[in-house]
Amino acid sequence: MIETDITKMFGLKYPIFSAPMGPFFTRELALAVSEAGGLGVLSNVNIVGTDPVKEHKESIEYMIEHTDKPFGLNILTSRNNRGVKEMITDIPKIIMDNPKMREQCVYFLTSAGSSKLLPSSKSFQELREKTEVKHFHVAPAVWLAQKCVDAGVDGIVCTGTEGGGHQSYERVTSLVLLQQLNEKFPDLPKIACGGFATGQGLAAALSLGAGAIAMGSRFIASKQSEFHDAYKALVPPGSPQDTGLFTGAFGPIRLYRNEYALTHPAPASKEELIAYEKSITLEQREKDSEAYDLVYDGDVNNGAVLLGQSIGIIDSIDDVNDIIERVMKEAEEAIRKNYSSLK
Ligand SMILES: Cc1cc2nc3c(=O)[nH]c(=O)nc-3n(C[C@H](O)[C@H](O)[C@H](O)COP(=O)(O)O)c2cc1C
Repeated sequence: MIETDITKMFGLKYPIFSAPMGPFFTRELALAVSEAGGLGVLSNVNIVGTDPVKEHKESIEYMIEHTDKPFGLNILTSRNNRGVKEMITDIPKIIMDNPKMREQCVYFLTSAGSSKLLPSSKSFQELREKTEVKHFHVAPAVWLAQKCVDAGVDGIVCTGTEGGGHQSYERVTSLVLLQQLNEKFPDLPKIACGGFATGQGLAAALSLGAGAIAMGSRFIASKQSEFHDAYKALVPPGSPQDTGLFTGAFGPIRLYRNEYALTHPAPASKEELIAYEKSITLEQREKDSEAYDLVYDGDVNNGAVLLGQSIGIIDSIDDVNDIIERVMKEAEEAIRKNYSSLK
């Protein structure tokens, strides 16, 4: 057993979270992770033509129907995201009105925008006062973590540049980021994210001051994840170099280098990246969102395939239970081995 500030905070058996992976559905995945003793996180599904509040509501209903375990959800607080105001106002109300949701939906993770937005919502303030819900925000750099602390978060998700999907302009690796954040905010609860897929990774994250890890790419390559089989099939043979940072709708994203990715620039500097993003037309944005529809249907050449460098350490598509059991066993072995080298 490994007990940490995070496992205690959420009453978890294991210090393992699934990372949110919008705009893809991660209902079955979140369910499997929570049932296995970790904490499953519902993604912000913001595909054009859908109502993001309704999607979250239905996912939360699905979760409480199928498990009694805790889980969480993600809201992208980017100005460019659809339905942000409605999500921060209506979702806390929906949860507040349902005792089972109040008990189980204990983790709100915001990302890709301001960490102040959710705490500014009256309905979230009420939920926070009356329940055990916690607010975490993604922090890819020290100065952004400081903003999270100023916004009064309960903890941060420390996401390094090797991670798949949504990224930041900062490009700091998980290894350096965790050490920086641990030095600056030693008592702040932290979840390590980006590049974690093994027990050795979990053991390292714990040594670096995190209380849990969140995994995205590792869980894509699972039997329960809703990703298309063609998407999953790219993971086991993949190498870190098969991925790269490109421009996305909400800032940089780490993509698998397919035809879609290679038609998008991968600017060298933060300034170039911001300038390019400002130049993106509405037409281009719509075309980019079609790339998600394509990949939903299994077109992994022309669709947007978000994956992290951790694909280089994932060799098979496995059951979520087996992944979690293996990560825990390996982590315990790694910690014991390190301990035994103490003289
Ligand atoms: C397919 C995919 C979609 C993602 N979508 C989101 C998202 O909607 N919100 C978010 O905060 N992060 C998103 N991310 C980033 C993940 O939450 C997480 O930071 C990343 O997967 C960690 O790196 P790993 O893939 O090496 O585990 C996404 C990642 C992937 C792979």
